[in-house]
Amino acid sequence: EDGKYILFKGLLVPKLSHSSESLQYAADFQVRDDDVFGVTYPKSGTTWMQEILPLVLNGGDLTPVQTIPNWDRVPWLEETRAALILDSQPPPRAIVSHLPYWLMPQSFYQSKAKVIYVTRNPKDIAVSSFHFHKMASFLDDPGTFDEFLENFLSGQVLFGKWTDHVKSWRNPDIEDRILYVTYEEMVQDLKGVLSRFAQFLGQELTPEALEKVANHCQFSNMKTNAMSNYSLVPQEIMDSSKTPFLRKGIVGDWRNHFSPEQEARFSAIVREEMKGSSFQFPWD
Ligand code: PPS
Repeated sequence: EDGKYILFKGLLVPKLSHSSESLQYAADFQVRDDDVFGVTYPKSGTTWMQEILPLVLNGGDLTPVQTIPNWDRVPWLEETRAALILDSQPPPRAIVSHLPYWLMPQSFYQSKAKVIYVTRNPKDIAVSSFHFHKMASFLDDPGTFDEFLENFLSGQVLFGKWTDHVKSWRNPDIEDRILYVTYEEMVQDLKGVLSRFAQFLGQELTPEALEKVANHCQFSNMKTNAMSNYSLVPQEIMDSSKTPFLRKGIVGDWRNHFSPEQEARFSAIVREEMKGSSFQFPWD
């Protein structure tokens, strides 16, 4: 494989941050019952969860989010940094992952580890990902938006097809330890969502701490946090002069990118593929 990606069980993952060793590490990972996973399809709110989880788990102490880059603060289970961080991390460990349900570590399925699964309107995901591919030199050029949409719909993109990912995580086997939230709910009512997270994780957040965390995790504040905005990454790898990683942080930017024809085709395919899933499609 000479390109920028590894093909992992049929899924494309970037070589920059993944290796066969890191993928094996994830498969063999010993999940603890007090581990907390933030699971996302790429561009659905991962960086946001890397900001939120430590704060909800520590009562709102900003130290980690002000001193540790997001990729080491809450590492991706499948990335090369994970082994360096997770083995020595005191509990409760917060971990993010883009893995579909069926590729989680064997020990995950028997564990009591909790999962927060963030979903986002796939049209906005496609837009966010399109711009990300233009600024990240470790990803292939996305081509035209139309070409990129076709790759997105056929699953020829990072971590495969969106509908497969979302459907996989609607698994009744884990319904008592998974919380579903949408990116859109987080944009609309972050404080309400943070309270739900705290309750789900059995954490106490005082009204003052809730206020502080919600304020800190606003898009405008994360955008200026060097530990979370990817400004520590060299420009040759991520060129924020093209598009910043924390790009717009809004709901509905697809309206500025999709033609009516693209929208109709995209929606028809996605809705068809979601038929029969317990997932209630909340977007237009
Ligand atoms: S990745 O590459 O999978 O880790 O990307 P991910 O972090 O999942 O998704 C990036 C998009 O999330 C937006 N984002 C936010 N939106 C609102 N508020 C906050 N605090 C926030 N933090 C990250 C980020 O801007 C990307 O979306 P777009 O639409 O491109 O702006």
